[in-house]
Amino acid sequence: MESKIYKTDVLIIGSGGAGSRAAIEINKNGHKATIVSKGLSFKSGCTGMAEGGYNAAITRINPDDDKKIHYEDTLKGGGHLNDKELVKTLVNNSPDRLTDLEEYGALFDRKDNGKLNQRPFGGQSKKRTYFQSDRTGHEIITSLKEEIIKNKIETLDEIMITSLITDKKEEKVIGAIGLNLKNSTTIFFQTKAIVLATGGAGQLYPITSNTIQKNGDGFALGYNIGAELIDMEEIQFHPTGMVFPKSKAGVLVTEAVRGEGGILLNKNNERFMENYDPRKELATRDVVARSIYNEIRNNRGSEKGGVYLDISHLENEIIEEKLETMLEQFLDIGVDIRKEKMEVAPTAHHFMGGIKINTKCETNIKNLFAAGEVTGGVHGANRLGGNALADTQVFGKIAGKSASQTCENTELTINEEMIENEEKRIQNLIKNGKYDPTQLKNELKNIMWEYVSIIRNEQGLNTALDKIKELENKTKNLNIKNKKEYNEKLINGLELINMITISKLIIKSAILRKESRGAHYREDYPKKEEKWERSIVLTKNKETYFITR
Ligand code: FUM
Repeated sequence: MESKIYKTDVLIIGSGGAGSRAAIEINKNGHKATIVSKGLSFKSGCTGMAEGGYNAAITRINPDDDKKIHYEDTLKGGGHLNDKELVKTLVNNSPDRLTDLEEYGALFDRKDNGKLNQRPFGGQSKKRTYFQSDRTGHEIITSLKEEIIKNKIETLDEIMITSLITDKKEEKVIGAIGLNLKNSTTIFFQTKAIVLATGGAGQLYPITSNTIQKNGDGFALGYNIGAELIDMEEIQFHPTGMVFPKSKAGVLVTEAVRGEGGILLNKNNERFMENYDPRKELATRDVVARSIYNEIRNNRGSEKGGVYLDISHLENEIIEEKLETMLEQFLDIGVDIRKEKMEVAPTAHHFMGGIKINTKCETNIKNLFAAGEVTGGVHGANRLGGNALADTQVFGKIAGKSASQTCENTELTINEEMIENEEKRIQNLIKNGKYDPTQLKNELKNIMWEYVSIIRNEQGLNTALDKIKELENKTKNLNIKNKKEYNEKLINGLELINMITISKLIIKSAILRKESRGAHYREDYPKKEEKWERSIVLTKNKETYFITR
């Protein structure tokens, strides 16, 4: 296996909202940006699947709201585990980034008076979610795509980045190795800077709203070269995913349904959220997801194993206009939400934890930047709905700017030894071993769902760790054939190894956090503890440390 060499100024790994926005910025600054995607460009990220909206406090449009209130809501929603400087950056910049999107051609819903419209979302004290029906993410990603095409920014599809390459002193990133999924050959991307924008890892769970590419590769890529990861235990389960048919379990049922007035009911037709939180259906996602889970666990769930979500009391026109995707999505399975209730249950959705960055999107590794869901700290222990799309645009632009500045004073270099080692690692996976990587991946997902999802305890977390270590041993003996074409088993093998790395980090962090905060709920430590208002930072080959918030 010998890698082709491909030179560019900045390699952006991931073509979702953050990666695309970073690329636009790099190009604007006169540097060559190359976006690489594991799937098809713009389709493999989760931005296009984000339905409900984009949060921005724009007092000019909504005089009730301002940036300070957005800041406070975000901290409160995040269990005060957020990095306050990153939150300030988010709320201060999200209005301007919304304007950028409009300049790229995105159309957001407007009221009759021509002003932009907002809908309420969970955990907001003021209405601040800007939207386009229930396909806001799709509107955003297609506008970014047009801007990228217009500026002739290079996009490469179906390349899985398998490792980042550092200089010989292991001080800075100088490139990355990618596996071309079409023909199973490798490429060395020689770069001046890298922007990680790979998104999260919903695929660690069998039920997820995420695209199939979201195995958390970016977390592993960073961690393997010494990047710091923060609060990896904080994983958001969106309260409402589809329950049936099995092939659609986990598909997102947007929070906009509740924002527009949808109510949650149990099998006794009780509006059960009244028993859990005065904000009812618009409590934060951690609270709503746990409440639904509790109803299901106590045999008050729906026929097919979820709870009911009802919007049928709204005018048909409102549903048809503002929840068009939901209407079609459920009509496809024979449910008319204008008249009938939906069945919903929590689905793995968003990683609040991730690569630690500062307000310039710098990581602790030189020339490595990160933006979007792959990063941690912005959302603390629980993300507010609508803050993710804003996050992609605010930090995508900043990462692009920082990477551009790096290009000014960086030369392309090479580290043959590290490249050869990565080529060997991939080659060594190909053998006639005993274990099917696809099967092991499914086993891992089931372990994570059973022991490391909405409700956790020490015993379960330790059991998960033991079981995952057994899986890890089996990865030394995988059954992967050599192919000069698309090699599904090889891809699954590489993803599995990343998923094991990340799962172990999540569990380590979840065991350490002996309290319940945001999405991390420990039934053996059910209270939030003041002493735990601190972030957990994990790094390969270095001591774990904590940051008081
Ligand atoms: O429910 C939703 O539409 C998802 C939005 C988000 O995660 O921000």
